[in-house]
Amino acid sequence: MCGVFGIVFAENRSDLGEYLVKASRKLVYRGYDSAGFATIKTDGSTQLKKGPGKLETVIEQFHIQKMSGSRGIVQLRWATFGEPTEANSQPHYDSDGDIIGAHNGNIVNTSSLIEAFKRDGYTVRSQNDGEMVVHAFEKYFNETKDPLLSMQKAQTMLKGDYAFIVGHQHDNHLLAVKKGSSLYVGIGKDFIACSSDLASLLQFTNKIVDIHDGEMIYYNHEHYQLYDLFSGAKIEREPYLSPIKVEEANLEGFAHYMKKEIHEQIIKTRELTELLNHDPHTLDETSKILSKANRIFIVASGTSYHASLIGSYYLNHIARLKTQVVIAGQFNEYYGHLVDNNDVVFCVSQSGETKDVVNVINPIRDQKLCPIISMVNIIGSSIAHKSDITLNIAAGVETSVPATKTFMNQILLFLYLSAYIAKQTGAPEAEEVFSIIGTIPELIAKTIEQDEEPCQALADTVISKAHDLYCLGYGLNYGSAMEGALKIKEVYYRHCEGMYSSEFKHGPLSIVEEGYPILFPASPSESGMVISHINEITVRKGFVVLISPYDEGYARNANSYIITPNCHHYLTPFANVVCMQLIAYFSSVLSGYDPDFPRNISKTLTVD
Ligand code: M6R
Repeated sequence: MCGVFGIVFAENRSDLGEYLVKASRKLVYRGYDSAGFATIKTDGSTQLKKGPGKLETVIEQFHIQKMSGSRGIVQLRWATFGEPTEANSQPHYDSDGDIIGAHNGNIVNTSSLIEAFKRDGYTVRSQNDGEMVVHAFEKYFNETKDPLLSMQKAQTMLKGDYAFIVGHQHDNHLLAVKKGSSLYVGIGKDFIACSSDLASLLQFTNKIVDIHDGEMIYYNHEHYQLYDLFSGAKIEREPYLSPIKVEEANLEGFAHYMKKEIHEQIIKTRELTELLNHDPHTLDETSKILSKANRIFIVASGTSYHASLIGSYYLNHIARLKTQVVIAGQFNEYYGHLVDNNDVVFCVSQSGETKDVVNVINPIRDQKLCPIISMVNIIGSSIAHKSDITLNIAAGVETSVPATKTFMNQILLFLYLSAYIAKQTGAPEAEEVFSIIGTIPELIAKTIEQDEEPCQALADTVISKAHDLYCLGYGLNYGSAMEGALKIKEVYYRHCEGMYSSEFKHGPLSIVEEGYPILFPASPSESGMVISHINEITVRKGFVVLISPYDEGYARNANSYIITPNCHHYLTPFANVVCMQLIAYFSSVLSGYDPDFPRNISKTLTVD
């Protein structure tokens, strides 16, 4: 979701456009609906090219690769304030056109700022909040001619969180600000750059400087200085070499990244298991903190929330820890005031940038209320930085917007952690669970091999005809059903609701009529209750598709049965969710949609 990148070289470069294009391509996965490029030459002349649509179209339409200059800013925007139009695309000029800036974030008082700036005679060209940051900077720059002081004053007008990069025509620097949104600084041989996304910097340099919330950085091609955004005090911080390697994403023969990433789950679960087997240090620390906690709140959004539902089941059953899973956006209102230092907040977020989760962490961290543990895929992310302990799911770059392999590694890590804690407390199940963890990659491989075709057939014959459906889950597979429903909604654009199966009779059952489709991922260990819930539907002529390892009762009672490989009860979500992912994928592709970039959706949600 939105990403901004700004780079400074000493002299005009004919390859500046190339740098900006490369940077922008690494921001794409975050989600966007317009793109914009600004360059400034050493003589102060500027160029600004921007518009809505696919990045590659904008690049081609405006010949971005040919743009030259000594400084450049690129921004990919995911619309919140103002429709995706050329005017609302970022970067923006100030009123006179001598200042250019762009942001990633959310200025919540945009409408009152638009009115105020118009009233005061500023040239306001859009409805976009990024333009308001530029005007706020402009207002004070016109008064002070001091970029740092201007930003210090400008931030008092801006309500919300943002990362902002701005440059003046006649200055060989850029100024970048981090307030709530992610920002990274990279030092190259002949440039310095800032970006919302670490991967876009790491392709150019692995020499990184940390910038914290409430700081700004003023930089040219060879020198940078950090400042406190509020007091203006100088901050000294040295660069370090990041060990993070950027994987190059390519389709490797697959039609879509989503399909490739579903298949990659075999290798990624294997790699994560090996990593965990060889590096118990973080698990040790985590298990000590969790075992002492009075209450454990697991906090996450979307797919990570569904993985947490399954993770909570593992922690409750295997590690015997009481955990409560809370939707991140709901946490502060419902539980924020109750948190004390006997609690642990366990944040799960593949991107490590989700604003709803950051909103949970910030007050807890500021007031040192309780330990914060996080589970992320992006190790240099904001959430990782703000946590006391970070668990790495090591799923590699996930390019497709729908989360697949990150989900799988999240539930694997939860399972492993539960067994690890169980082992330390001498719980009998620990050894058994460890012995099945090693079989997960093979289970996923077998599921793909035997169920890909049936899933495609189901998508073709049943799901593609459905405009509305439910996914029900019971016990451990409640999270599988929720995740399946999300995947179908996300890439197939049909209403599909996930629900705990015992809840269905409390109202939604009335929707069932002849042939009404219901997907039911399940485990044979829970067949008693599940069969009862299936029958409530089938006697009313609903059409139940069961997804589970073979069970005679299921075979007799369901209308259709995708049989997954035999496995331990705890492993059923690994196979069931692969099938749900495949069903969603094929439904999307058969309908002519692009599952990698679902409409309206962004991979990294850095707004409230
Ligand atoms: O990066 P996060 O795991 O915190 O993201 C949370 C959700 O936005 C995310 O899981 C979303 O639901 C998935 N991309 C959907 O496939």
